[in-house]
Amino acid sequence: MAAITFRNIQKSYRLQKSEYRKKLKGEIKKLKEELRTTFDEAARTKALAEIELRRSAMRNIEPHNLTVDIIRDFNLEIQDKEFVVFVGPSGCGKSTVLRMLAGLEEISDGEIKIDGRVVNNMAPKDRDIAFVFQSYALYPHLTIFDNIAFGLKLRKMPATEIQQRVYHAAEILQLTEHLHKRPKQLSGGQRQRVAMGRAIVRNPAAFLFDEPLSNLDAKLRQEMRVQIKKITRRLDTTTVYVTHDQIEAMTLADKIVVLNRLEPEVDVNIQQVGAPLDIYYNPANTFVAGFIGTPTINLLDGEFSEEDGTLFFRSGPLRLRVAEEKKPFAYKYGKKAVKAGIRPQDFEDALFSQSGSHDNIIEAVCDVSENLGAEIHAQLQCGEVTLTAAVTSRSQMKMGEKIRLVANINNMHFFDFETGTNLNRVQL
Ligand SMILES: Nc1ncnc2c1ncn2[C@@H]1O[C@H](COP(=O)(O)OP(=O)(O)O)[C@@H](O)[C@H]1O
Ligand SMILES: [Mg+2]
Repeated sequence: MAAITFRNIQKSYRLQKSEYRKKLKGEIKKLKEELRTTFDEAARTKALAEIELRRSAMRNIEPHNLTVDIIRDFNLEIQDKEFVVFVGPSGCGKSTVLRMLAGLEEISDGEIKIDGRVVNNMAPKDRDIAFVFQSYALYPHLTIFDNIAFGLKLRKMPATEIQQRVYHAAEILQLTEHLHKRPKQLSGGQRQRVAMGRAIVRNPAAFLFDEPLSNLDAKLRQEMRVQIKKITRRLDTTTVYVTHDQIEAMTLADKIVVLNRLEPEVDVNIQQVGAPLDIYYNPANTFVAGFIGTPTINLLDGEFSEEDGTLFFRSGPLRLRVAEEKKPFAYKYGKKAVKAGIRPQDFEDALFSQSGSHDNIIEAVCDVSENLGAEIHAQLQCGEVTLTAAVTSRSQMKMGEKIRLVANINNMHFFDFETGTNLNRVQL
């Protein structure tokens, strides 16, 4: 059994001077891009100041600046037997956190505890954790049995016990009939299961997976996802699973941790921790909203406007009533400029909807539509506003023609225009 605690974990790397310059240059380039696209006065002033700061840093490079933070203020509790998925874009530090937990990477600051014991200085082999990597690294000249047994033999476990454990793992993994074969006689999915077998026979307190499926093709990935779910449920052991694939995160996790790369405007990696549906229905900010869900959520710049006592969200010609339960947050927010989020699935073709009324219908022109069989994904234009909608494939929507859509305004999100924080989470 294992409960895991991360307390104020920090990780930074030392940089060469040239790398530091490159990093500053990259940041300046991004800020300049922002200047080109933003007309908000406050944002422009801030960006100009940030650029000046970096220019001056470039002129006088201080030794203490030659580090780059990869992980900042990482705090997380993982319960015993919980299946936790770290999800985020490439480079956001997922592997780094996992490697620190396994003891393969030094922690710059903070504490990691396993079952209440600080493990910062404990050797990897003493942590009772099994790691499954993306590359299986099987020994080609050994049989599947010997590949699975390898770690146990190193530990000088008695042969009968080894045999018992390998057969048990092989049965769970449906590898029993392959135990005498060599890795090259197996398919990609079977090899992945052998790699899992090596972890399972150790009977560890926790499993760590680092993108175990990313080498497999789409169909196999889906199959293996289901396998992993079945196997880990049966083993009932604490699991930390890293992926950049939001579908793996949604389908496997008890608890999802959404991570982002540190940037000048992103000061901590953890963006949200929650159950999959909580993350989907209550994204903490625009980053999480945009990362989870396919097709990607529509994020619209616009403003609140009150007309005859009714509160609306307006963006170009698009006008949608703000649902009753969202109103208190909108009033507390106080500002006009706001970002709205609406998922493609929260639009319906008005022809097939019972719930259309004058304040939740929009008219748009269909630019591109893709019929996937079960539903149609369409790119629509409503004045200058571009929208994605996922509607029933019975819809007669045609490219270049007008369509009336009903929006499920109860599922609309509103985000702070500047920070992107979900308004129902803004502390006021
Ligand atoms: N030894 C290192 N020195 C400097 N930077 C590193 C080193 N190892 C990793 N990084 C950086 O740390 C960041 C996080 O890396 P990683 O944890 O591998 O991300 P992920 O697994 O989410 O893709 C990346 O930007 C990477 O370039
Ligand atoms: Mg990685």
